[in-house]
Amino acid sequence: MKKALILSGGQGTRLRPLTHTIAKQLVPVAGKPILGYVFDHICEAKIKKAGIIISPETGQDVKDYLGDGLPWNIKTHYIVQKKPLGLAHAVLSARSFLRDDDFVMYLGDNLLSSGVRTAIARFKKNKPDAMIFLKAVEDPRRFGVARLDSDGKVIELMEKPQNPPSNLALVGVYIFTKKIFDAIARIKPSKRGELEITDAIQELINMGYAVDSEILDGWWLDTGKKDDLLQANSIVLDEYIKNDIKGKIDVNSRTTGRVTIEPGSVVTNSNIRGPVKIGKNSTIENTFIGSFTSIGDNVTIKNSAIEHSVILDNAHIEGIERLEDSLIGRGAKVIKNAHQHTALRLMISDDSIVEV
Ligand code: G1P
Repeated sequence: MKKALILSGGQGTRLRPLTHTIAKQLVPVAGKPILGYVFDHICEAKIKKAGIIISPETGQDVKDYLGDGLPWNIKTHYIVQKKPLGLAHAVLSARSFLRDDDFVMYLGDNLLSSGVRTAIARFKKNKPDAMIFLKAVEDPRRFGVARLDSDGKVIELMEKPQNPPSNLALVGVYIFTKKIFDAIARIKPSKRGELEITDAIQELINMGYAVDSEILDGWWLDTGKKDDLLQANSIVLDEYIKNDIKGKIDVNSRTTGRVTIEPGSVVTNSNIRGPVKIGKNSTIENTFIGSFTSIGDNVTIKNSAIEHSVILDNAHIEGIERLEDSLIGRGAKVIKNAHQHTALRLMISDDSIVEV
């Protein structure tokens, strides 16, 4: 397999307000943008060319991060999708890049434990017309859902059904042959006004083509919402974080478990319980950082306790007794007011959520 199509457009409405200023695929999980993990998987599968679908709004940030793909040894080719008209529309927009080649399509906000290498090997061996991946989930109504027959063959696919016929969700990774273009030509926009890739795959089935499916063993996370992102952060920290302290920790501070601290960060009179990742040039003072927390670069945290949270670059947190299950955006400030009043003083952006 020579080509991958990576979807990194869309509006990220479920991750607002973060996605007013950052592409959802660039939100860091354990200190690294989700798109970075996607590229690691593509590289591991020895694919050398990637078409990247970007939106006019966040495309430049995606380009700035991936560049020419050199760190992954993948040649990048950017394709602007002017409007978010659906995943199948994105495939159409990439026609001149894909030509008649087989390709793996990977949604840039999906995180998979298993990668795609073995799946591609199976695709090459069985030579179906398309291959999809499924995972049992608690609330299938949020996803594309598959109905299988007793032999495990896919017989029906539905996009976000009210009454799901199974708990098997369509994972955001697909392998296609050029036949997908014939199927896309036959579908109409869905109720949400998008050309759905789920409908196109259903069309492949209707046309009598072979659609193989595989149920994933490992974890799969669609990071499109806050809680999913926090869960992804916990899983990735748990699996990958090493004890690696390059910053400075004073004698009054303590770390337990696996903690990574990048150069230039300074920890004073604080207690850090891993797995925790702290980026570069951050300041942690008189603070407890609990498990499953990722802190970005240039962050200041003083006189606070934080657990199970993602704190992005340049944020400032001070005097907060307990912050849990939180996602704090770049440059955001969370500060206890000095007057000891019970009143809240807020200046928050559109679509922010404050739970007090
Ligand atoms: C898309 C697909 C859906 C799939 C999901 C996986 O949904 O349409 O079938 O289950 O990705 O992440 P969207 O994120 O566009 O709502």
